[in-house]
Amino acid sequence: MSTTANTTKAFDVVSIRRDFPVLNEQPYGKRLVYFDNAATSQKPTAVIQALVDYYTKYNANVHRGVHYLSQRASDAFDSVRGKVKDFIHAANEREIIFVRGTTEGINLVASTYGRKNVKAGDQVLVSAMEHHSNIVPWQMLCEEKGATLKVIPMNDKGELILDNLEQLLHERTKIVSIVHTGNSLGTINPVKEIIKRAHAKGIPVMVDGAQAVAHGSVDVQDLDCDFFSFSAHKMLGPTGIGALYGKFNLLEEMPPYQGGGEMISAVSFDHTTYNEVPYKFEAGTPNIADVIALGAAIDYWNTLDREAATKYEQELLHYCTEKLSAVNGVRIIGNADKKASVVSFVLEGINALDAGMYLDTKGIAVRTGQHCTEPVMTRFCIPGTIRASFMFYNTKEEIDFFVEQVEKAISFLNP
Ligand code: ALA
Repeated sequence: MSTTANTTKAFDVVSIRRDFPVLNEQPYGKRLVYFDNAATSQKPTAVIQALVDYYTKYNANVHRGVHYLSQRASDAFDSVRGKVKDFIHAANEREIIFVRGTTEGINLVASTYGRKNVKAGDQVLVSAMEHHSNIVPWQMLCEEKGATLKVIPMNDKGELILDNLEQLLHERTKIVSIVHTGNSLGTINPVKEIIKRAHAKGIPVMVDGAQAVAHGSVDVQDLDCDFFSFSAHKMLGPTGIGALYGKFNLLEEMPPYQGGGEMISAVSFDHTTYNEVPYKFEAGTPNIADVIALGAAIDYWNTLDREAATKYEQELLHYCTEKLSAVNGVRIIGNADKKASVVSFVLEGINALDAGMYLDTKGIAVRTGQHCTEPVMTRFCIPGTIRASFMFYNTKEEIDFFVEQVEKAISFLNP
């Protein structure tokens, strides 16, 4: 990811919190403690303002008008592709495709690269800790083609077991699709190593970067991944927009995704020729406002000391893990050596949803349940977890209050 900060300010959580207006909200008259960042991050004023500015000052369609507003909107929209390129350190902005989010990025690859290259009897390899969005598109492809979905297993700590990776990287494996940072347990996977081993056998790798981009720098060239997808809303931007990175030579060879305007070069009733990469994959009027706001989110990241923010999040993770582990009746699920700021846990004899609802009455927002990773819950033989996920704007004081309320929830719900 780019470290080309315009202005770098020292990491200071008190002043950073002022950038996020929603943190002043008081649900039920209680101070908001927002620990549901893995579901979606909060947005800084600069991102909210970018949306307001677009709609109040220069709302127009892009690439379709000669008038002032359209040109202004087109310039703002077009500038974001380069910002995304720098954010994930891609080589060329034409390798960046705007999509609705990580899920659409994976679906795009499955239904273009996958449909073209996966045949009956082939294999697709994912891991045991995938989000449903990195299982189901491949499963649908395998069903359509008569191929098989294979799975890298996971140990009791929530880490991938790579002992049998050589066998899983079979001569019939046509693509590996793997999550960088697991959303339900927070495990940071050794994706660079997996990519290297897959490439040694000529197998391309797609990386689900949804959680990774918000908790550390990503460099797609260093990873050498073939595809990488992320959502803006998990990294301070708006919902409904994200980006798919693909190596240029692969994108060139892939068939288009959806048909419509923008993705074409010439259309007649006899024949259509397609636009060049990346427009070939971007049919229809794009999500202009949210692309511009994604650009504002990247600008915001560039004002932060990213390293200090990640280090601070790690402090929050360790602080919370230690405090929660000391509470009777708490069992943390996922103790990988390398973890992002996610603490998933169960309470003995207490339903996760009940605990979540109790915490909500105290102003604490956590996610409960399967977190779109049902196979992870099955692996640990649990129906679901309570998940607290932190961002750099959270504090140790919030964790103190959270742990106190977890203790109260235990006595209240399981007296
Ligand atoms: N993938 C999101 C989560 O983990 C929605 O909560």
